[in-house]
Amino acid sequence: MDLATQVGSVALPAPVLTASGTAGFGTELAGAMDFGALGAVVVKSLAHFPWPGNEAPRVVPTPAGMLNAVGLQGPGVAAWRDQQLPALVAGGARVVASIWGRTVEEFGRAAAELAGAPGVLAVEVNVSCPNVEDRRRMFAHSARATAEAVEAAGAAGLPRWAKLSPNVPDVVEIAGAALAGGAEGLVLVNTVLGMAIDPARRAYRLGSGPAGGGLSGPAIRPIAVRAVHDVRAAFPTVGIVGVGGVASGRDAAELLCAGADAVEVGTATFADPGAPLKVLLQLVRWCQRHRVPAVRDLVGSVHRSSAPSSVEAPSGAEASPGDRVGRGVAAAARDPGDVAPPVAPGPDDGSALLAAVRAQLDALDQGMARQTEEVARLGAALAKLAEALLAASEQPAEGRGRP
Ligand SMILES: Cc1cc2nc3c(=O)[nH]c(=O)nc-3n(C[C@H](O)[C@H](O)[C@H](O)COP(=O)(O)O)c2cc1C
Repeated sequence: MDLATQVGSVALPAPVLTASGTAGFGTELAGAMDFGALGAVVVKSLAHFPWPGNEAPRVVPTPAGMLNAVGLQGPGVAAWRDQQLPALVAGGARVVASIWGRTVEEFGRAAAELAGAPGVLAVEVNVSCPNVEDRRRMFAHSARATAEAVEAAGAAGLPRWAKLSPNVPDVVEIAGAALAGGAEGLVLVNTVLGMAIDPARRAYRLGSGPAGGGLSGPAIRPIAVRAVHDVRAAFPTVGIVGVGGVASGRDAAELLCAGADAVEVGTATFADPGAPLKVLLQLVRWCQRHRVPAVRDLVGSVHRSSAPSSVEAPSGAEASPGDRVGRGVAAAARDPGDVAPPVAPGPDDGSALLAAVRAQLDALDQGMARQTEEVARLGAALAKLAEALLAASEQPAEGRGRP
């Protein structure tokens, strides 16, 4: 099984990467998985200055994912480069550094601090952040601001991937602007704007208050699939990385078919730190079951297909639970291929990689087992706390200072 892929000029040995902001700055998850088995590790977005991020609470669970308002907390490029990058590279990771800024100039400064950084393959330009020069709109909401930020990131002297927002009427237009600014890869998509309010307290649930947060996880996968599909149709040869709600090998295969050269795994990592490796392993199994010898064969395949549209009833083993209406969100995230027994590996079908990934997963499972007891204990404590909070919130609002 050939897992190699290519995003613009960047060759990757495997098509699964971590998503920025969900695997820390690199060292936090290093003990939980072998980063070298992944295509690359995309680190949390860094500015040219240290940034404290938003007030807590920063994350809120949602029915099919989560809302976050971490607010781009980070140590700054220079400190990360000195203190964390060396260990990441020594651990075998191929690194993609994500940068952000509040002005075009700040994108340029962050990029310049990356120039010559050993082991960094590419810079991911996160334009989903407020542009203080443009009435606090996000860079990613303006074609011109996107092009300017990407152009400024050229100071890194590295291949540039532009990470775009789905919160725009025409993502293809913004993608075109990013390419005009010098991007050779497009990362689709960042989180979807959202908000959570606690009606009992008449209060915002995230510390960012009226600024809200970003929705991620399975709920946004169709949005990512659509964005990747439409951008691939418009730009047949550009590098594309799909990100949004990938939690299984089948999810990854869906984004690859839509046109992604590789995928990133984000929110799934919070439930299971081994998720990116599991997605990779499941993708290998999925390809074996579906007789796909090389991942590259899948990329953009829906654009070459004459198969009937999804309104026709799926049949037999190819029917994804996601195609059956009413089976629930959890079932929709799983394909029979994810649970089918693996096909016996042959001599040249990636069995060495499979063995390495399995060894990693075994180690992770052992660690998880040790943590299960602790989690159960914490769960009981949290349940008690939740009961107490519920009881308090059901008291009349009078006397608690709320309208
Ligand atoms: C807690 C959290 C922090 C994130 N931080 C960043 C970030 O620093 N930079 C960035 O480009 N995207 C960030 N993202 C967005 C993810 O990289 C990804 O685009 C998005 O979550 C969709 O993928 P997912 O559904 O697999 O999580 C963050 C997402 C989450 C959930």
